[in-house]
Amino acid sequence: MSDQASHGAQLLTLTRAARLVGVSRGALQKKIKKGELETFEGMVKPEDLLRAYPDTQLEDNTALEHFTQIKDEAFFHRVRERLLPEPEVLAERLSGLSKELANTRAQMERYKTITDWLYDKLNEYEKTGGNETRTIIGPLKLWLRHELEKQSPSDYLQSYVVKESFLRLMTAHVRLLPGQREFFVEGSDTILDAALRAGLSLRYGCSNGNCGLCRAKVVSGKTHLMRHTDYTFTESEKNQGYVLLCSHTAVTDLEIETSEIDGIQDIPKQEIATRVKKVEPLSDDIALLHLQTPRTKRLQFLAGQSVTLETGNGAEGDYPVASCPCDDRNLQFHLLRQRGNRLSEYVFKKLKPGDIVSLVGPKGDFTLNEESPRSLIFLAHGTGFAPIKSLIEHAMARDVAETMHLYWVAGENGHYLNNLCRSWTDALDDFLYTPLQAEKTKTASVLKQILKDHPDIGEFDIYAAGQTDFLTSVKKSLAGSKFPENQLITSRVD
Ligand code: FES
Repeated sequence: MSDQASHGAQLLTLTRAARLVGVSRGALQKKIKKGELETFEGMVKPEDLLRAYPDTQLEDNTALEHFTQIKDEAFFHRVRERLLPEPEVLAERLSGLSKELANTRAQMERYKTITDWLYDKLNEYEKTGGNETRTIIGPLKLWLRHELEKQSPSDYLQSYVVKESFLRLMTAHVRLLPGQREFFVEGSDTILDAALRAGLSLRYGCSNGNCGLCRAKVVSGKTHLMRHTDYTFTESEKNQGYVLLCSHTAVTDLEIETSEIDGIQDIPKQEIATRVKKVEPLSDDIALLHLQTPRTKRLQFLAGQSVTLETGNGAEGDYPVASCPCDDRNLQFHLLRQRGNRLSEYVFKKLKPGDIVSLVGPKGDFTLNEESPRSLIFLAHGTGFAPIKSLIEHAMARDVAETMHLYWVAGENGHYLNNLCRSWTDALDDFLYTPLQAEKTKTASVLKQILKDHPDIGEFDIYAAGQTDFLTSVKKSLAGSKFPENQLITSRVD
């Protein structure tokens, strides 16, 4: 039997391994790249994982907790609704673990019987055999006794087993086929919600069990229906194991056959009447507009995209969504007070919680190229920070980019979410943040600073958002530095 096959049952996916040792998936990938952790087809052996991480890390999850908290804050309220799995799900998982425990105990008993029998046999041969037999059997018996009396597994190993069992009780691991993307379903999340939280873009529509757009085939594992649905499957679909991802949660680890959306062309145009949750000043002339969609009509979009908003006075305008698709119900926008702009004036003077704001969209192709292996530079100018924030939160949810560096060039309204940017640097090892003042910094010197920080600029993708003049000047400067044109993605935000 090959080494890999002999460990097949125990191999851990990177996502699960990262959870166990309390680090991000990116941190684990870095170790693999450096050759400090071996992988087998993208999976790791528990013993290699334990060797790569010193004891303390199983207990000390501070970094991951901080990271998770930062991510959770991007998800508004939905995160609070999902702490514990449904009782039926917990009961099934417990029953599964108990069966496993019973099997392990039965197996242990069997091994003990075999070793006792072997020891007795050796005794017998030692007594009846000649000198030569005794010289072989004596040390063999000693070795066997020593191995059997060896201490029980170390505290560290026990802690690993306890934690692994706890994780399996509280979460289920999902692998999508054929793409092989993975994520965890936690608490009482539906499979669709968990996928969105993990930054995956699956096909869906109503999120409510009516349209059938989220249907997918469960190849292995068990799901649990969480709400009544009106959608009817054909007999053949039922037999093949199709379920609605928006209405089912995972009971056990799952493999699901479904395709992710390929890009903006796969997202339908949506018209939604949203309600104002709050309008909060972020600075003298910038307001955070928080809109909430109805539960049954959420906005499907890709991070970085914009929508058209229409307020009660009939004014409309295009604005980038400043939150990430991981929370498709709670949408944030950063609005600049602009004299003569009817929508802006209405928002600053009249709009209040509970009012209706119509939304049409999404639009725009300022989206993350997830296939790119390059690290990321984000360049925000003023409220160009809004779509950049969405991209960063999405990149964090996907946990793929090796390093991210945010440069934010701000004018008189300042870095209105400076603390948020600082918290990203605290939470992520490889996140850098450089705030710059627009009045002191000409675009050429911003580029100079970037080149100084990253002399290997060609190894990066640059996402820049801001006013037209700023973007024109960024394009010009980068072209002068021979930066590949296709690695610069821009979005105009006036
Ligand atoms: S999204 Fe409509 S049924 Fe699931």
